[in-house]
Amino acid sequence: MPESIDAISIHNLKKSFKKLEVLKGIDLTVKRAEILALLGPNGAGKTTTIRILSTLLKPDGGEAMVGGFSVTHEPKKVRSLIGLTGQYAAVDEFLNGRENLEMMGRLYHVPKAAIKKRAQELLEQFDLTEAANRPVKTYSGGMRRRLDLALSLIATPPIIFLDEPTTGLDPRSRMLMWDIITKLTQQDVTILLTTQYLDEADKLADRIAVLDQGKILAEGTSSELKGRVGTERIEMVIEQNSNFEQAIQIMQRDGLQKNTEERSVSVPTGGSVNEIKNVLDKLSAAKIEIDAMSVHKPTLDDVFMHFTGHKVAKEEEKVEKKK
Ligand SMILES: Nc1ncnc2c1ncn2[C@@H]1O[C@H](COP(=O)(O)OP(=O)(O)OP(=O)(O)O)[C@@H](O)[C@H]1O
Ligand SMILES: [Mg+2]
Repeated sequence: MPESIDAISIHNLKKSFKKLEVLKGIDLTVKRAEILALLGPNGAGKTTTIRILSTLLKPDGGEAMVGGFSVTHEPKKVRSLIGLTGQYAAVDEFLNGRENLEMMGRLYHVPKAAIKKRAQELLEQFDLTEAANRPVKTYSGGMRRRLDLALSLIATPPIIFLDEPTTGLDPRSRMLMWDIITKLTQQDVTILLTTQYLDEADKLADRIAVLDQGKILAEGTSSELKGRVGTERIEMVIEQNSNFEQAIQIMQRDGLQKNTEERSVSVPTGGSVNEIKNVLDKLSAAKIEIDAMSVHKPTLDDVFMHFTGHKVAKEEEKVEKKK
């Protein structure tokens, strides 16, 4: 893939299933060696997008290019560039982990001598050495997900799609997966991952696109998005016997919010330590004591709420829906 070409570029991409408009004209670019997280709740259109990009599904309109090739006109070339691991990826239940990896290696024309070595490396990397010689049908859900990702890496493709890579994993496997994904981008691999988890997008992605009901509502780095939602705030609770009104006067500035009953006050801040110390010094000089203080930074939760008007579905709701 030439240096100058974006790894993925999508223009006005549309897809409907009968009357259901699932993608309503999506624009998105993923630069080379970047991790982009497509963040959205159930039914947002994440898997549909990934399926179109990986040539498993034809779009109704618009264009999607992967590694400079059109997914509709050059699907073979696209497939040669991508690894795909998804919510519904297929592993052979009756083969063991190692055999699955070796088979996938042959499928992707990895040189014979390299396949065994690569399979062993991946088994180690994904903590699957002990299970390597057992049929996959005996694997736990988490082990399957790890094998699934390992399979997509056997040929080290330059572009990888990960559809909810950590959904349903226990915390330990989740950390392992995050580690592996982070390491991948140090090797010039481009990753488009979908997730419903704000912390996952926050931790892994260089950029985040918020997808809701088939539209990209916002896009940028995590801090850019947070910056668009609001600034940091210092929040304080003033002690019972201190003068609350005087505290308000001392802290007075644009954007001050107070709750007299709770004796709480919050003001926007640039967040520098000096600025915070300054406020504390002034309060202290006026003999005003504080019960509690915190600095609140906008979270991706705030971002999501701001752009979509609702929260990302909770894990329990998701499980309910899938039943
Ligand atoms: N083959 C299909 N036929 C009909 N409707 C479909 C098909 N595939 C997806 N849909 C519908 O399109 C919408 C978007 O589905 P999609 O799988 O892209 O969402 P998602 O963002 O991946 O959600 P999840 O987080 O649950 O995986 C949903 O309403 C889904 O029911
Ligand atoms: Mg999905």
